[in-house]
This record gives sequence, C-alpha cells and structure tokens, in this order.
Amino acid sequence: MTTQHSCQAIPDLFFFYLQGWVRSVRSQKEVLFLHINDGSSLENLQVVADPSLEKRDLTFGSAVEVQGKLVKSPHKMQNMELQAETIHVVGPCDIWSFPLKMKERHPLEYVRQFPHLRCRNNTLGSLLRIRSEATAGIHSFFQDNGYVHIHTPIITSNDCEGAGELFQIETSSEAKESAEKTHFFNVPAFLTVSGQLHLEVMAGAFTHVFTFGPTFRAENSQSRRHLAEFYMVEAELSFTESLQDIMQVMEDLFKTVTSTVLSKCPRDVELFHKYIAPAQKWGCDLQTEHEKYLVKHCGEVPVFVVNYPYDLKPFYMRDNEDGPQHTVAAVDLLVPGVGELCGGSLREERLPFLESRLRRLGLIDAYQWYLDLRKFGSVPHGGFGMGFERYLQYILGVDNIKDVIPFPRFSHSCLL
Ligand code: 4AD
Repeated sequence: MTTQHSCQAIPDLFFFYLQGWVRSVRSQKEVLFLHINDGSSLENLQVVADPSLEKRDLTFGSAVEVQGKLVKSPHKMQNMELQAETIHVVGPCDIWSFPLKMKERHPLEYVRQFPHLRCRNNTLGSLLRIRSEATAGIHSFFQDNGYVHIHTPIITSNDCEGAGELFQIETSSEAKESAEKTHFFNVPAFLTVSGQLHLEVMAGAFTHVFTFGPTFRAENSQSRRHLAEFYMVEAELSFTESLQDIMQVMEDLFKTVTSTVLSKCPRDVELFHKYIAPAQKWGCDLQTEHEKYLVKHCGEVPVFVVNYPYDLKPFYMRDNEDGPQHTVAAVDLLVPGVGELCGGSLREERLPFLESRLRRLGLIDAYQWYLDLRKFGSVPHGGFGMGFERYLQYILGVDNIKDVIPFPRFSHSCLL
C-alpha cells in the first residue's frame, strides 16, 4: 500500500489517517489485527489495535477510517504497520449476505456474477490497476512517438468493416413507433465498429494519428474472446507503402506497453501468472482452428500473417494485384491462446481501384466523402487496430475475455 495515496499524513510525521475496506479481522486476547486495502495496491496495510477498539460491525468488507501511528513492523511479511488509536466504521457490511468471503480464492466464474462487487476481489483489483497502467502506457507510447490523439466518434453512419455486425441507434420514442420511422439523425446511425475511417480523414492532415476508445460489434457469440463492447487501439500512418512499417508499430506498441505494465505493477501481474495463467489451455471449440495451428506450428510464439484473399476482406484494403491469387495488403498478428490480437492493412489510396470496388459493392454513393480523401492530397497510408481486452488476456493468461473488462457486454447479457 502506498502511503502517499492511501494515508493522508497529518502534522506529526508518523501519524496517519487511513481510509479503506477491511480484508481480514483477527482478534486475539491481547491484540486485534486488521488488514485494510484502499485499492492502491495488492498489498494490505496491517493495523494493530487494542482489543477494546473492536466493534460488532468491524467485519470483513466494512469501510473504515483508522487513525494512528505508522511504525516499522516486527513481522517479516511487511515493512510498516499502523498502530491504531481510533477506528471508525464508516459503512458496515453484512457478511452473511455479502457474496465475497474472507480469505477465500473465489473462481473468476463465480465473481463474474457480481459485477457491482467483484472489484473488491484481489484478482479483479489487480486487473483494474493493470488496465489503468496499460491505458496510460498506450497513450504515452503514441504521444512519445509523435502521434496525435483523435477522439473518433462513437455514433457513426457507416459500417467500416462491412460485416453487418452493427448496433443501430434509435431514440426510445423511435423504438416505440414501429411504422414509418423517422431517424433522429435523418439517416440510420450505428455504434462504431472501428474508428479507422475517421482516422483516415485525419491522416490527410497529420502524418501519425491514433484513437483508443469503445467499439461495438453485434456478434452473436458467447466465445471466450468476443465482446459486444470492447476497447480498441487504432493507429493510422501516412506516407507508408509497406506492411513492414505497420508491423513494426504493432510490435513496438506491444513491447513498450508490456514493459510499462511489468515495471509499474509487478505484484499484480505476478498474481495472474501465479494463480490464473496456469489454468489456461488451448482447445476451446470456438478458437479458430487455423489460427491455433499456425501459432502452434511456429512454436507458440506471436505470428504475423500477411496478404489475405481480396474477396474476404473489407473494401478499404489495398489490392496487391497479384494475379490469380488476388490478395490484399492485410496483416493480422496472431498470438498463442488468444488468436487474432491485431488486424491492419495498407489502405487502397488509388482512386480508380477504390471507385470500382465501391461500385461493385453498391457503396459508391455512401462513400463519396471517402473517395474525396483520394482526390485531395492523397498519400499511401495504412494502419491497424489492437483489441485492448485481447491484449490483456494474452499478457495475463486469462482464459475468458469477460474477466478483463469491468462490465462485460455480450449476447444475452448486459448486467448493470
Ligand atoms: O481486425 P479488426 O476487425 O480490424 C478493424 O476493425 C480495423 N478497422 C482496425 C484498423 O485497421 N484500424 O479488429 C481489430 C482488433 C482484432 O484484432 C481484435 O483484437 C479486436 O479488435 N476485436 C475484438 N475484441 C473483442 N471482441 C470482439 N468482438 C472483437 N472484434 C475484434
């Protein structure tokens, strides 16, 4: 527990005021021991008190304020302990109906049922600190490398991936009027499946841009690696003609953010590697078998797969013009245990190619603005997206994606 975060120092240097939640209570004849956690770290601060300070509502899970002296601890397990002078129970906790139990290692599936309480569990606490550090690490990586952060919209009128996995938006009154719909925005509007097209707009004025925000896909999947709402990191680079440049950014992003996470919260990461990751295994029937095979074949290491069939990929990917094979300049990064972590491509910057593809797909009218980008100062460019939850799943060895996001949304489930 970091004293500067959790304990507000009051004038006497060793006098502390601690606010947090009780993780354990051990009452002995001569002394009362409490472990208090305030969410700043995995470690609890041990409070040592006279048994006369014990109250009936001082239980596991209760919220407390403790005042006392911070002293060097005689125990090997901790540096400091707080010798309590007053203990105030701010919010009692009914331990009989509280679903978390003292000192129990609850399975992730069990705590998933309580999205409003599971942040008080060690594993989720660690995960949320790691998520926070990884988020900051992602922003730092891009800022340090000269990228401009763009807030791409959540509400959009286009389907970037063209896969039809869109959530359409309507107002609650529109939802009631079934006949003759009028749209709030005059046009059908959706929750974004990717910020890429808006990033491409910005790549016409900035050579390096990124976005990092919520993304929505109406995939009717209960798999352990799909969510209906997830976070995606996306980057777009102008003046690039090579997939290699895109792959290099993916790799640098992954390595830099992971080393930040390891240095900022080693104990939290250790918890996952010690208690969660060993249970992870291949073999879920929803895992794409080909991805699994490729990663295994290459020795269980991350693998870049490039140049996918033209017909399988979205309209914006650059045609490789490679005869009968007919591929596009796409790249996926596949990783052990998770499968696809990043997806990216060079974008089709040549106006005639893009026009004819959009015409064939019947999208030419809707994407006039996108064609404009190719008419006015167009440059070769490309980019990628990395699923933030899949990234966390991979580095922490978490089997189910629902355990790396505070409030998971997936088909047939939207708790809270
Ligand atoms: O490969 P995807 O579909 O790529 C795009 O959306 C591009 N427009 C990105 C770009 O080039 N700017 O998605 C990117 C990543 C995937 O590799 C995966 O990690 C994650 O987003 N992802 C999901 N994560 C959780 N749940 C889902 N339903 C996901 N779908 C994709």
